[in-house]
Amino acid sequence: MTLLSRFDLRYPIIQAPMAGISTPALAAAVTNAGGLGSISVGSSTTDDARHMIEAVRAASDGTFNVNVFCHAPAIRDVTRESAWITHLAPLFAELGGIPPSVLHEIYISFLADPPMQSLLLDLRPPIISFHFGLPPDHFIRACKDVGIYLIATATSQAEAQAAQQAGMDAVVAQGIQAGGHRGVFDPDGEDLQLETIDLVKQIVGHAKIPIIAAGAIMTGADIAAALDVGAIAVQMGTAFVACPESAATADHRARMAHADASDIVLTDVISGRPARGLRNRLIDYGVASDSSPAVYPLAYDAAKQLNALAVKQGKHDYAAQWVGTGAARCRALPAAELVALLVRELEEARGIG
Ligand SMILES: Cc1cc2nc3c(=O)[nH]c(=O)nc-3n(C[C@H](O)[C@H](O)[C@H](O)COP(=O)(O)O)c2cc1C
Repeated sequence: MTLLSRFDLRYPIIQAPMAGISTPALAAAVTNAGGLGSISVGSSTTDDARHMIEAVRAASDGTFNVNVFCHAPAIRDVTRESAWITHLAPLFAELGGIPPSVLHEIYISFLADPPMQSLLLDLRPPIISFHFGLPPDHFIRACKDVGIYLIATATSQAEAQAAQQAGMDAVVAQGIQAGGHRGVFDPDGEDLQLETIDLVKQIVGHAKIPIIAAGAIMTGADIAAALDVGAIAVQMGTAFVACPESAATADHRARMAHADASDIVLTDVISGRPARGLRNRLIDYGVASDSSPAVYPLAYDAAKQLNALAVKQGKHDYAAQWVGTGAARCRALPAAELVALLVRELEEARGIG
């Protein structure tokens, strides 16, 4: 049984989990409109995660997805971390701040978070999705025992294969155009950086589980193109950032709507892992240097401190504003209207309209 029939989803449209951006209100609106809404608790405490899940349930009786981060916990490297802090010191000085003496793991990996694992098993969201890797075997088995549907992001055929072998029910094939963090399992490994359609074609050719396409899917015609090469659904992030229900700042919304190709970059400067978003002062400064950022999510600690200082001065040029290459094609509509528009465009593209 596919994802759509199992959960009675009307449309093959998944609103991507986006930590800090996809609110419970956004997820509920997409689900209520016939798609699949998602929240991410990857950077949340267990208390916040509980409240978010309860908030989705209070606003919708439908199916939703909860997303967590399965990155390898940071291996500390004091020399590299100190070098990165020293490198960023002039930016702190420009903003009238003091660089931190040490960097902190601002949130822990789901792999090292038994309380979050227990919480999800208690609250039993219908679907859980994993980014940056796969959860422990015991968690997969426990989810299967209670009927939770499991999805993992894959950026390559090898990652998709690993996800299938581990027992995932479906895979999100995340192409290189995608906004936000690339879901690569090992950020130090080889990355073939395939575009969405090529990646879907490659994975569909080998996989026995359903494939969901993600990356630069902005319109119904884009959805049709992904379904045509064998995806069962699409996962769209950037398109939903522009919805009023998202938590995106006014600056993020304004900049994405006018972004051209040179404004959108893939960089590990902000968090320590490759992620695609709008260029800013920190990215330009980091890219122009020889220093390697501290590993994920330690570098993110420094970036968030710089942004907090900047925001106090009304500046937004240190903010992590994740978007994919399709950003300028966003439509700033309420989520239900965006889903309805995407469905009309999809029907037109398939000659049904
Ligand atoms: C602002 C933003 C935040 C994101 N955060 C997450 C996240 O927390 N978890 C996750 O699995 N994917 C996250 N992603 C990636 C999406 O799941 C998806 O792969 C991507 O949005 C697809 O490309 P698109 O943005 O071009 O639609 C994020 C994407 C964006 C744009």
